Amino acid sequence: MAPSALYALLAVAAASVVLAQPDPAAPTPLYDKHYKYPNEIPYQVDPNTAAIRGPQIGYNQCNSTTENQSSLCQTSFINHIDDFCLWAPSKPNSTIGDTEGQEVAWCTKHGHGTRLIPAGALKGVQFIRTPDYIQIAGFIDQTQINIAASDYGGELDPHGADLRGNPLGGLMYSNAFPSTNTDNNSYAQVSDWTNFMGGSAFCAKACDPAGKTPGAFCQNIYDRLGCEYNAPNNAKNGTFEVCEGDNMTPPGIYTSSGHTMTYFQPPESLGPITTVPYTASVPASSNCVTYHSTDLYQSLPTPTGSAATTGKPGSSPSSTRSASAGGAAPTSNGASAVGISSVATIVGVLFAMVFLS
Ligand SMILES: *[C@@H]1O[C@H](CO)[C@@H](O)[C@H](O)[C@H]1NC(C)=O
Ligand SMILES: *[C@@H]1O[C@H](CO)[C@@H](O)[C@H](O)[C@H]1NC(C)=O
Ligand SMILES: *[C@@H]1O[C@H](CO)[C@@H](O)[C@H](O)[C@H]1NC(C)=O
Ligand SMILES: *[C@@H]1O[C@H](CO)[C@@H](O)[C@H](O)[C@H]1NC(C)=O
Ligand SMILES: *[C@@H]1O[C@H](CO)[C@@H](O)[C@H](O)[C@H]1NC(C)=O
Repeated sequence: MAPSALYALLAVAAASVVLAQPDPAAPTPLYDKHYKYPNEIPYQVDPNTAAIRGPQIGYNQCNSTTENQSSLCQTSFINHIDDFCLWAPSKPNSTIGDTEGQEVAWCTKHGHGTRLIPAGALKGVQFIRTPDYIQIAGFIDQTQINIAASDYGGELDPHGADLRGNPLGGLMYSNAFPSTNTDNNSYAQVSDWTNFMGGSAFCAKACDPAGKTPGAFCQNIYDRLGCEYNAPNNAKNGTFEVCEGDNMTPPGIYTSSGHTMTYFQPPESLGPITTVPYTASVPASSNCVTYHSTDLYQSLPTPTGSAATTGKPGSSPSSTRSASAGGAAPTSNGASAVGISSVATIVGVLFAMVFLS
């Protein structure tokens, strides 16, 4: 099947399984809110106090005044390996599942008006540029960004059951896309993105707004399948690298006996996902350049708590490990992710459809 037909199909299929309903008190989906950076960004994009989930907890106008470790800035960036933000809780020892609507931006670089990821918390990071998106994946001491040590986490994304986003009002921008950054100083709003946090790992994708089918590469309907299916990668613990890569096959799409199939994640009411009919493959990458973390991340706050004694802040971890950054998985049930590859019986209903090529 021609790729364009495949993406169109995926878009139709995706629309049919998204059961999200806008909250009447906050009817405009976050996905439809567009603001040029920085002048059009309102103080809060979702101040709706009458909505079921309440207003967003933070704000979107972020500057030097708001930049400290109590910042509630909810405007995020993915620019490069030395300049990106992750969504994480505002209060220590929280789970992503309990706080998905309230995450704030934690960044690697000063200047975005946000909290900063403490020195040494990042243990390995891979930044990949593909034709249609950029992806960042890696390993982190998640307790340094307020995520409980045992939390397998889940997905943050610009949709959610009420279409207000998780976090509510969370915006994302990037200067990484040449088509929208002709002067090296222009940020494009990224409307199609995903960020899995948890299991001491993370992955995030920002789809090029001017790229091919950004909604297909940055799907938000596979939130229980983690990085392994949404951002397949070969990030290594202890390695900091920038690579070029091919586009992945959009999440959910696979081939079986020559037929292109679409898999849909079963509803949570059917229990843990114990098997998925395909294994996502890691797209080819090349031209990887490695860095020392100390050269990438500078002037970051000192880690808090016991983790401060486990390594010299900012130092590059010496050991490497070849597992991919894929720990982050389900929002509400960490156990189901762990079971994906280890249990052979089908418990969930797999909505697979056959399309002739
Ligand atoms: C900085 O951001 C805060 C919070 O959004 C806002 O109240 C303030 O007006 C901003 N300051 C400047 C100088 O833009
Ligand atoms: C962080 O900045 C805010 C806004 O300027 C301020 O109210 C708060 O006290 C600061 N917190 C810390 C820990 O510096
Ligand atoms: C984090 O919270 C859990 C559950 O509430 C608790 O058992 C644990 O002691 C807390 N850990 C820290 C470091 O506060
Ligand atoms: C943008 O930055 C790149 C890399 O530093 C440089 O090669 C290029 O010339 C810059 N373009 C402009 C228009 O300044
Ligand atoms: C990554 O390596 C560090 C040592 O540098 C280790 O403390 C941490 O547990 C490792 N993370 C994972 C997810 O294996």
